[in-house]
Amino acid sequence: MKPFILTLAVSAMIPGANIAAEEIMVTTNNTALVLDVADNGRLYQKYLGKKLRNAAEYKAIPNAAEAYITHGMEDYYEPALHINHADGNPSTLLTYVSHTAGAQPDGSTLTTVTLTDKEYSDRVKLFYQAYPETDIIKSWSEITNGEKKPVELEKYASSMLHFNAPAYYLTQYNGDWASEVNATELPLSFGKKELDTKLGARANMFVSPIFQVSLGESATEDAGDVLVGTLGWTGNFRFTFEVDHQGALRVISGINPYFSKRTLAKGETFTTPEFIFTLSNEGRGKASRNFHDWARKYQLNKGDETRMTLLNNWEATYFDFDEEKLKKLIGEARDLGVDMFLLDDGWFANKYPRKGDTQGLGDWEETADKLPNGIGALTEEARRCGVKFGLWIEPEMVNPRSELYEQHKDWVITLPNRDEYYFRNQLVLDLSNPEVQDYVFGVVDKLKTKYPDIAFFKWDCNSPITNIYSNYEKMNQSHLYVDYVRGLYKVLDRIKAKYPGLMMMMCSGGGGRSDYEGLKYFTEFWPSDNTDPVERLYIQWGFSQIFPAKTLCAHVTTWNSSAPVKFRTNVAMMGKLGFDLKLDDMNKDEVEYCKRAIRNYNVLKPIILEGDQYRLVSPYSGEHTSTMYVGKNDGDAVVFTFDIYPRYKQSIHRSEAQLRMKGLNPAATYRVTEIDRTDGKDRQIGEYSGDYLMTVGLPLFTLNRLTSRVFTVNKL
Ligand code: GLA
Repeated sequence: MKPFILTLAVSAMIPGANIAAEEIMVTTNNTALVLDVADNGRLYQKYLGKKLRNAAEYKAIPNAAEAYITHGMEDYYEPALHINHADGNPSTLLTYVSHTAGAQPDGSTLTTVTLTDKEYSDRVKLFYQAYPETDIIKSWSEITNGEKKPVELEKYASSMLHFNAPAYYLTQYNGDWASEVNATELPLSFGKKELDTKLGARANMFVSPIFQVSLGESATEDAGDVLVGTLGWTGNFRFTFEVDHQGALRVISGINPYFSKRTLAKGETFTTPEFIFTLSNEGRGKASRNFHDWARKYQLNKGDETRMTLLNNWEATYFDFDEEKLKKLIGEARDLGVDMFLLDDGWFANKYPRKGDTQGLGDWEETADKLPNGIGALTEEARRCGVKFGLWIEPEMVNPRSELYEQHKDWVITLPNRDEYYFRNQLVLDLSNPEVQDYVFGVVDKLKTKYPDIAFFKWDCNSPITNIYSNYEKMNQSHLYVDYVRGLYKVLDRIKAKYPGLMMMMCSGGGGRSDYEGLKYFTEFWPSDNTDPVERLYIQWGFSQIFPAKTLCAHVTTWNSSAPVKFRTNVAMMGKLGFDLKLDDMNKDEVEYCKRAIRNYNVLKPIILEGDQYRLVSPYSGEHTSTMYVGKNDGDAVVFTFDIYPRYKQSIHRSEAQLRMKGLNPAATYRVTEIDRTDGKDRQIGEYSGDYLMTVGLPLFTLNRLTSRVFTVNKL
């Protein structure tokens, strides 16, 4: 693909003093990032904010700070770039060389600014890709060693942005296994705050690469200036937020430089991952919708396609199954009316059969005494039942009790002279080694070749990188964290090229992987092993900040069965609906309810998966929560309401309980109907203008614990 189909502006200038001022504009429909070359030849960020009506007026704004600050010069805070040159000099001074801006085939505009260090001939390119209608900007950098000998890259941020506001509030999304993405807001004052991960493979177990910085005041769902950013990198990331002595904030995003110094050979170029951000002037809700629209259109694998409902056997059976049990479940998938049956962990290995999580990982042949007729008998049964078949794999990992470990210890990331430390009884394979990449690709390739009917993989990754040491002879140890991820992408590129139709779930012991580079390959991800529906309301709320509903796998299970099946199902209907239980876990009425709910979901899918999401009432705010989805083009909408634990005698007539909708056309009339009821009968609520529904609202919450309701809002 040609990089530019239309070049808008090109300029080449001699770096140095007395340079003519050069303004570089990166704009979307609502946002402008203006860079400026000053008389000293250096590149400054002049402006980042709401786009001005008159572009000529950017000239009046004084330069803010150097766009990509380097180590060793006159700045006293955290730099974006630190190069140790071949002669031992640790400083870099970048001056402007040229820039280009060109329309891309997908409608975005790519601006490239080339800078150089005159003393050393090293080159830095800063890239800004702007997506006009979704107000998303991607930024990343490329660093080239122009010296005669290798240099050492100590810090190499993808992006640096500067802000000047009276106050800053950071919202971070951190947690742990089964308690992912809890939102915490804190003010940023003088000093540095870092959000980072050092876990390597299961990188986001404690913190996801999502942040929001409110500028001035804490942004609400609908109001306030807020920067929302994420890094497209399935590995260690770091976001640095530093407020200086004058109250200016810098936001530096990129790979975590922790144990990741890069040696760059002469002439070699290092490309950093994409930092993706939006700057909303209408609060967090708009920022989320920007991300959702952008992801579905430009980033997500099969972003414009729908998603399959499924029945998964993990919580239904754990490791305890055989062909007969699975065939029964495949039949249950058909009876429920879902699109696919997904076979989870426990189907493989013979010398060390996978009967628990202590052994077998790495040996990807069916366990003969569990599945004497192989996966083929199951895909055949699925075909007979008219459902698709999906399979769980964890191809990056190995149990020490496995044939793979016995044969290929050199493929394992492990310290040669120390006791091994295990996380979930397993170790990580060394994806920096091309032989291991071939092996991991081969896991998928062999299965797909033998069983072409496999329509879906759940690709798990349950361990962080422990015992960090590559036994691959060509490895520079401090390259391992980064080269691991690059090796993973090489494998995923090959899979996507060979099997373009394949859908895949990204999973990492729950939400340990949750990033937009991964989602170029995966069609969805597993947000958490915690499927308690109340917990899920928070987890889905957290991930929805940047990820659209179609990426969020949400399964109905037996966790928290004090919540009615309807409550559990309604929570899961706000994402990519699945079930992970046996029909025996429910009574007859509940099973009938689920069948109807799946039919309802199939009708609502275009609104939930493709529409605009409005988070109406936060679960963090107390007793109730509600989210609505509005179909594109002013269309129909659906509202989900949940009463979690309403207070005794709380008045549902209080204004908070009057649920105001969003995103409707004020001039249109809508019919509001409660659907998906356990009695199977729809209940007409009434007809109202969009104006009424958004200004006055309706009392859609109840005072009953663990109650959920679904309302369609149809335009008449
Ligand atoms: C991880 C996943 C679960 C399940 C198990 C199987 O924990 O997150 O969904 O697949 O592995 O071992």
